[in-house]
Amino acid sequence: LANAQRAHWGSRLAFILAAAGSAIGLGNIWKFPYITGVNGGGLFVLVYLGCILLVGVPVLIAELYIGQKAQSNAVTAFERTHKPKTLWRLPGWLGLASAFFILSFYSVVGGWILYYTYLSITGQLLTPPPEEIGKTLTELFASPLTQTVCHFLFMATTVVIVMAGVKNGLERWTKILMPVLFLILVGLLVRVFFLEGFPKAISFLFSIHEGEMTAHGWMEAVGHSFFTLSLGMGAMITYGSYLSEKENLVRAAVAVAFLDTLIALMAGVVIFAIVFSFGLQPSSGPGLIFATLPVLFAQMTGGWLVATAFFLLIFFAALTSAVSLLEVVVAYWTESHGVDRHRSTVTNAVVIFILGLLSALSTNVLAEVKILGLTFFDLFDKMTSSYMLPIGGILISVFFGWTLGKQAALNAANRLGPVAVALLWITRIAAPIAVLLVLWNLVFGL
Ligand code: PFF
Repeated sequence: LANAQRAHWGSRLAFILAAAGSAIGLGNIWKFPYITGVNGGGLFVLVYLGCILLVGVPVLIAELYIGQKAQSNAVTAFERTHKPKTLWRLPGWLGLASAFFILSFYSVVGGWILYYTYLSITGQLLTPPPEEIGKTLTELFASPLTQTVCHFLFMATTVVIVMAGVKNGLERWTKILMPVLFLILVGLLVRVFFLEGFPKAISFLFSIHEGEMTAHGWMEAVGHSFFTLSLGMGAMITYGSYLSEKENLVRAAVAVAFLDTLIALMAGVVIFAIVFSFGLQPSSGPGLIFATLPVLFAQMTGGWLVATAFFLLIFFAALTSAVSLLEVVVAYWTESHGVDRHRSTVTNAVVIFILGLLSALSTNVLAEVKILGLTFFDLFDKMTSSYMLPIGGILISVFFGWTLGKQAALNAANRLGPVAVALLWITRIAAPIAVLLVLWNLVFGL
């Protein structure tokens, strides 16, 4: 009965764009280039691509299927597809916790993007001489007030959209903004093609050169494949639940993973072409895109306009992902506890905002507070990407492969035998073992 009133996506395209909107975000444009830089390029990219194909796509299909079948939020979905009060609710709970932690630092980075958009519009971003462009970021990091205000503004925008609900909030915006983001990236790609660092960027990203991957690098590649596809925490279960029963999930999952990977690689090429053309450091960490892009924009005629458009679009890409993070939590409270949608959105956002202050202050007042050697920002990032999402992903995969089993695989694969068999074996055995091995290697060494 409840299903009759449940909101649904307006069309197939709307769904694919919304799922792609969740997947494509800071993970692609901010995080992928910087962790690739830190981990030395080629081999890391290869492992990451392998994870997307072998683990990411199958788990994505599994999540969408569970959501679509259950027509409910990420916790209840396990009960509806299996049995009431099942222990399999655990990955649902873990997912809610992941959503809290991820959104708390995600919003802080979203705030940086917002700040850069503001600086671009007002023309302040590109006025300093090139060698001083990096200073802007240092100043932002040093100011608790700016960090907090930007974090607040990002969170507040997310709240407004989530309150509007599935159709009016999520759908309308992603449909317009994702294609524009893509076009701008194509434009930048054409521009960097003429930079002297372009060939070097290609070889850095796509050829396997000397240097080796650490256990940590492996885990980061695995973890990032979950993060970038919004997997392992019920976001795709929730989005799948707004889908009517007829959708071809395999096709949808492949489309989403393809678009997500394409955008990450395009962003990677643009950023590393700039890095190698202007003698910047590939391994400079979370500040990478903020230190590189303005250098290029400053060289372009009408650079401030391109800069504004670009940061604005990253802001929207981040927003559509943040919305999906908050939606996981809100869907749970409204459906399972009957909390009013508006109240649930605001309450959860306030808690997440407060938690996020720990990350916002990690670059200044709390810079010296370290847990396991990490600042809060790094801790929340590592803890979710490297542990919570992969573990959530394994559990969801095993639930799909073993508990729901053959029938689910056949349905999810649209009755295509070979696809169903592949899906079953990957979710039952290959994906869990691959992720466990990498996790084991990280914790105990092989
Ligand atoms: N996939 C998003 C990105 O790459 O930016 C981040 C994300 C969104 C992770 C939603 C997890 C999630 F549930």
